[in-house]
Amino acid sequence: MVGEKREVPYAVGLDLGTTGARAGLVDVSGTVLNTVAVPYETATPYPGWAEQDPESWWNASTRAISQLIASSGVEAGSISGVGLSGQMHGSVFLDAERSVIRPCIIWCDQRAAPQCRWITDSVGTEHLGEWVSNRALAGFTAPKVLWLRENEPDKYARVRTLLLPKDYLNLRITGNLSTDTSDASGTLLFDVRRRSWSEPMLEALRIPRDWLPPVHESSDVIGEVTAEAAEATGLPAGTPVAAGGADNACGALGMGVITPGDVAVSIGSSGTVLAPVETPAVDREMALHSFCHALPDTWYVMGVMLSAGLSLRWFRDQLGEPERTDALRRGEDPYRLLDETAAEAPPGCEGLVFLPYLNGERTPHADPNARGVLFGLDLTKTRAHVVRSVMEGVVFGLNDSVEIMRRLDIPLERVVAAGGGSRSALWLQMQADIFGLPVRATGEGNAAMLGAALLGATAGGAFSDIGEACRAASSYGKLFRPNTANEAAYHEAYGLFVSLYPALKGLF
Ligand code: XUL
Repeated sequence: MVGEKREVPYAVGLDLGTTGARAGLVDVSGTVLNTVAVPYETATPYPGWAEQDPESWWNASTRAISQLIASSGVEAGSISGVGLSGQMHGSVFLDAERSVIRPCIIWCDQRAAPQCRWITDSVGTEHLGEWVSNRALAGFTAPKVLWLRENEPDKYARVRTLLLPKDYLNLRITGNLSTDTSDASGTLLFDVRRRSWSEPMLEALRIPRDWLPPVHESSDVIGEVTAEAAEATGLPAGTPVAAGGADNACGALGMGVITPGDVAVSIGSSGTVLAPVETPAVDREMALHSFCHALPDTWYVMGVMLSAGLSLRWFRDQLGEPERTDALRRGEDPYRLLDETAAEAPPGCEGLVFLPYLNGERTPHADPNARGVLFGLDLTKTRAHVVRSVMEGVVFGLNDSVEIMRRLDIPLERVVAAGGGSRSALWLQMQADIFGLPVRATGEGNAAMLGAALLGATAGGAFSDIGEACRAASSYGKLFRPNTANEAAYHEAYGLFVSLYPALKGLF
C-alpha cells in the first residue's frame, strides 16, 4: 500500500561519479554495510573536452553491484529497492533504437562556451532567470545539444532521446525512460520553479520536447529491475527502482541536509556549498545554481568552486616534498603532515593570500581564464604560511558562496562538512571560523551513494518518505564552533581576498 512502512532489510545505492561507479549496501537504519567501487576512463580528445562512454558506466556499475551482492553474503531477495545518484549535466544522445550515438559529453567539458554566449545573447539573462533559474554555463546540458547541432549535424539528425548519465543506467536497469527533478534542473531546459520541462526554453533553443523523458520526484518508483538487468547485476528481477537524483542532491540527503538552516559544504577535488530552501531562490547575477532538491517541494542553492581539494593536492605534489617523504617513512597520510605544517602559521597568514582559481572558477566568478595567485609574499613568509594560505584561500572561495546566500536571506545555521577536506581538523576549524557557523563532519564518507540508497529504500517501502529516511540515517562527527579569537585576522584576510579578483580580472 502506498505510504505504508514495511520492514525490508536492505537497499542498494549506486553513485555514478566522475571517475567511477560506487555501489553500496545499506540497511533500514541507514548504516552502510559494504561498498564496491569500479573505475572508468574519461577521454580528452582536445584540451577542455571530457567524454565518457555510457557502455563503460554500465560495465562498471553491473560489476560493482554484482560484486557488492556476492561479497556481502546477503540474500539477493532481501534487497527492497535500488536508487541511483549521478554526475550532473552530461548529455547521452540516443537514436530511434535507443542506442548511444556518441560518447557522453560530461559536466566538466568546456567546449560549449560559444553556445553559452549565443544562449545568453539570444534568450537574455532575464528570461534565463524566469524560465530556468540559472545562467548558461558550458558544463550544463543544453549548450552541449547546440554544440552537437552545429558541429556534428549527421549525429544530431539521428537523436531521438536526450538523457542524463544516471538516467541512461536507469533505462538499462528498468527499460523505462525517466529523469528526476534534481538532475533535470542542471539541463538549462527545466523550469526549476515549476518542476517541469520549460516549454519556452525548448522553443527558444529549438530542442524537440519529445526528446526528453518523463520527470519524477527522486523517490518515486520508475520501474522494476528487468530480467536482463537482473542477470547482469545479481539484483532480483522485479526489485523497485527509484527515479534517483543528482549527486549533489543525493549527497545532501546522505548528510541529512534537507531543511533550511542546514548547509552542506564539500571539499573534494572541487568544492560545493549547498543550502536547502523552501521556495526557489535566484540571486541577481545567478552566481549560485538554483536547483530542485531530491525531496518534493524543496529546492537548494549551490555555489561550485572548481579547485578546492585540488589546490591542496597541487601544493602536496609540487611543494610538499618534505611531507611526502616523511609520510612515506612513517606510513602516514601526507595531508595530515601538511596540516601540522600549516598549523605553524597564524590564522590570516600575516597578509599572505591565495586565490584558488587553478583551473578557472565557477562561483562567484564564472571565469574559465581565472588563475591561481599567491599575494603578499615577503622575506618573513615560510612554507607553513604558503600551505596555510592555500587552505584558507579554499575556505575564502567557499565563503564567497556563503556570503551570496546571506545576501539572499537564506537561513544558514550549521554546516555539515564532507569530502576529503572534512578529514582535516584544521580545515574544519577554519570553516567554522571563516563562515562563523558551527561545523560537523558527516559520519558517512560516501554521502551521495547513501542518499541514493535511501531513495531506493523509500521507493521499496522501507520509509514513509525520503525525509524520514534521511533523519534515520544521518550521523555526524565532532562539533567545531567558531573561535572568536581568530575572527579579526580572518576578517582582514578575507577583505583582501575579495578585492584581489576584481583587481586582477583584466590580467587573467
Ligand atoms: C554540479 C556539477 C558537479 C557534477 C559532478 O553543478 O557540475 O558537481 O555534478 O559530479
